[in-house]
Amino acid sequence: MAGALGLHVITTQLPIAFISATKQTFRRASVIRCAANPPNKRYTIAVLPGDGVGNEVIPVAVDALRLAGSLEGLDLRFEELPIGGAALELVGVPLPEETLRKAKQSDAVLLGAVGWHVLILVDLPKWDNSPKHLKPITALLQLRAGLEVFSNLRPITVFPQLVDSTYLRKDTAEGVDIMIIRELTGGIYNAHPRGFTTNEQGDEVGFCTESYSASEVDHIARVAFDIAKQRRSKLCSVDKATILEGSMLWRKRVTAMGLEYPEVEVSHLLIDTAAMDLVRYPRQFDTILTGVMFGDILSDLAAMIPGSVGLLPSAALGDSGPGIFEPVHGSAPKHYGKDTVNPLAAVLSAAMLFRYGLKEENAAQRIEKAVSDVLDRGFRTRDILTPGTTLVGCKRMGEEILRSLDARVSVSNGSLV
Ligand code: IPM
Ligand code: MN
Repeated sequence: MAGALGLHVITTQLPIAFISATKQTFRRASVIRCAANPPNKRYTIAVLPGDGVGNEVIPVAVDALRLAGSLEGLDLRFEELPIGGAALELVGVPLPEETLRKAKQSDAVLLGAVGWHVLILVDLPKWDNSPKHLKPITALLQLRAGLEVFSNLRPITVFPQLVDSTYLRKDTAEGVDIMIIRELTGGIYNAHPRGFTTNEQGDEVGFCTESYSASEVDHIARVAFDIAKQRRSKLCSVDKATILEGSMLWRKRVTAMGLEYPEVEVSHLLIDTAAMDLVRYPRQFDTILTGVMFGDILSDLAAMIPGSVGLLPSAALGDSGPGIFEPVHGSAPKHYGKDTVNPLAAVLSAAMLFRYGLKEENAAQRIEKAVSDVLDRGFRTRDILTPGTTLVGCKRMGEEILRSLDARVSVSNGSLV
């Protein structure tokens, strides 16, 4: 694959040891068999836990997928594959060819996080000084390009049970329900020319290109209009059309497409105003459409409305083929190995996998209801702890999710029995 980054996925064979370790990792999930009816639909899910806390939250999401799926008569097969720093350690490249190939063959990809750090007294980001094609993060861009997932859905929802976790005023955060739709495979992250050079003064220069073509804008705008139509029919497009040519074209194309959707109310905001308004009055927003970099920034900013990035799921979708479903929080090396992180972003990503990846709406709703039920029963990880609630770790939160999915499940010590 020679993606927009001009990076190549290097052919590698995964060691046998990894393949058998994989079978170990997800074996316990396979003991869940409590479907009312025998399974009738089969799906293969490529599971890429990646680095850091990805290895803590993804097993929780896999258990939730398997149980919710089995309750809906679905037979899910999980195949674990290495990515990021874990793949660099194993085979010397961040996205092994086999990982990409099997991801392409799957029905959906469940991804943890990439970013490999070694903790020896201080936090050392290993591999970060390597050339770009050997950085863990590159795997993510290669995977997105390889699967052609150009639209990134990042919902920002304030659960009524968690309104006290917000960083904003409670009355500002209450009832917020926003869908951010971020373009993912074009724009400044991916466009050419880019690179390093030296200018006439002998000064070193790093540069990249912020560009969007009409067809790229139309592609993502169509997704956004269709989603807005199914929501509250309000679409806000965010750009910097006062300065950037790519944004000027973006605004022109979005405005033109709006004529095809008379039922959708379209507005345009500049990125700086949008950032301010997301904090000032977030309830005004329904669906937000924006480019790859503004969307990256706005989604982290918006995470502070619900109060934790540990609550934010995402989906990356193409026109066809498997989507990538991933918590927004990253590998969080400082928190890794302590069993303290919040698995709800990963579990809610599993719900998005059912909804957008497999079109299994009932299974998606089972997971979302289970999350709501666990919150009703007062369980909270450290990032969303408020007075009067019960502090639990990542594994225990996962067990409670399973209990909420099916009261017949018995769980002890992080394992299903
Ligand atoms: C995200 C991340 C990535 C992005 C990085 C890791 C490349 O920040 O998914 O939000 O900017 O797309
Ligand atoms: Mn980000």
